[in-house]
Parts: sequence; structure tokens; C-alpha cells
Amino acid sequence: MSKYIVFDGMDGSGKGTQMKLLEKKFGNSIIFTREPGGTPFAEEIRRVVRDNVLASESTTLNNFLLFLASREELQHNLVAPTLKSGKHVFSDRGDSSTYAFQLCGEEHEELTHLFNLSREHIFLNRQSPDLYIVFDLPAEMSRRRALQDVARKTNHFDVRDLGFYERVRKGFRKFAVHMPVKFVDATRTPEEIHQEVLELLAEEGIGLSG
Ligand code: TMP
Repeated sequence: MSKYIVFDGMDGSGKGTQMKLLEKKFGNSIIFTREPGGTPFAEEIRRVVRDNVLASESTTLNNFLLFLASREELQHNLVAPTLKSGKHVFSDRGDSSTYAFQLCGEEHEELTHLFNLSREHIFLNRQSPDLYIVFDLPAEMSRRRALQDVARKTNHFDVRDLGFYERVRKGFRKFAVHMPVKFVDATRTPEEIHQEVLELLAEEGIGLSG
């Protein structure tokens, strides 16, 4: 059966490097995508919510809704049809990020009800992720790496205070109470992390032949 795996985690956790290693290993036997983004329309939403500085001047609710809009689009036009065709989907981020960043990091837990409702609707008659692999990193390390990212201007997100990164980290842990999440210690070398990811995927029956 085709599986839907989400890769998520703290900013600066080396998730991007891990996705590249997986793409190199599995090639086009697996469909790789990302959130926000992943289809032409969802990539437009990505440009608004991730790359446009105006998004950081808007409200958490507005950004939350844009992340949802991107997810609904990706589910409808890419994830569901791909799984139906029998292929696995690997996504760089997913609803775990909305939970960790908007609800917990930005302290808008009053959005929990809306988050749960949106989950029900988005995954209605579709497949919810089979597994979330979360790259875990201490808050200070995540913040330090985010600072380097801002120096390279990779996105508009401001570097927030340490408390934000601590809340995001806790947010992923809270998400894991009810969801199929496996944490990976992202303080190790990329190769060590990659090996562990391959082991977790093998437990899901995903290997080069599966
Ligand atoms: P990335 O693609 O480089 O990981 O950047 C995506 C950024 O968007 C990252 O800082 C996390 C953030 N994000 C949210 O805040 N909520 C979400 O629902 C998603 C998918 C991403």
C-alpha cells in the first residue's frame, strides 16, 4: 500500500539536506513534495505566506489559513491522486508545522478547534500521513542556525526569541501525543541521521524495492 510520510522539524534541523539525500536514494520511485507549496497554485500561496515580508505583518490567523489553503490544494491535486496511483509521497513539512509553529510557537492555542476541524476536512476521504519523521534539535541550536539563514536571507521570517523555539519544540512533542510521530536526533552528522531515517522507512515497508 502506498504511504504518505511527512518530514518535519525545527528550523535549521538539516531537514533540507535529508530530503536531498532521500531524493538521491529513491529518485522518481517516490513523489517528493513540500508545504507550503507542491503544486503550481500552492507554490503561489508559498510565495505569499513564506517569501513575502507582508505575511509577517499580518495575523497568525491569516497565515494559518494560508497554510491550510496550500495544504488543501496539495492534498486535492497531488497527494490523493499519487497515493491512489500506488506511489508513496514524501512531504517536506505538513500539518505538524502548523500545530508547532502557529498554535504553539506563536501561542495561539485557541486555534486548536479550527486546526482539528481543518484536519478532518482536509483528510476527509483522503489519507492522513502514515508517519511523521520529526528532526529534533535543541532550541538554542535551532535559533542559531535560523540566524545564519536570515543572514543568507532565505525567507522573511524574523529570528524570534529563544522562547519561540522552545515552544515550537514542545509543540512537536505535544502533536506526537496523538499522531504517529518518530523523532530523530538532528544534532548528529547528516549521514548518521540519514541511516536512521532509512531504518524508520524500512519499518514502514519502504525500501528501494518497496
Ligand atoms: P522551509 O520550507 O524552509 O522549511 O520554510 C517553511 C517555513 O514555514 C518554516 O519556518 C516553518 C513555516 N511553516 C509554518 O509556520 N506553518 C506551516 O504550517 C508550515 C507548513 C510551515
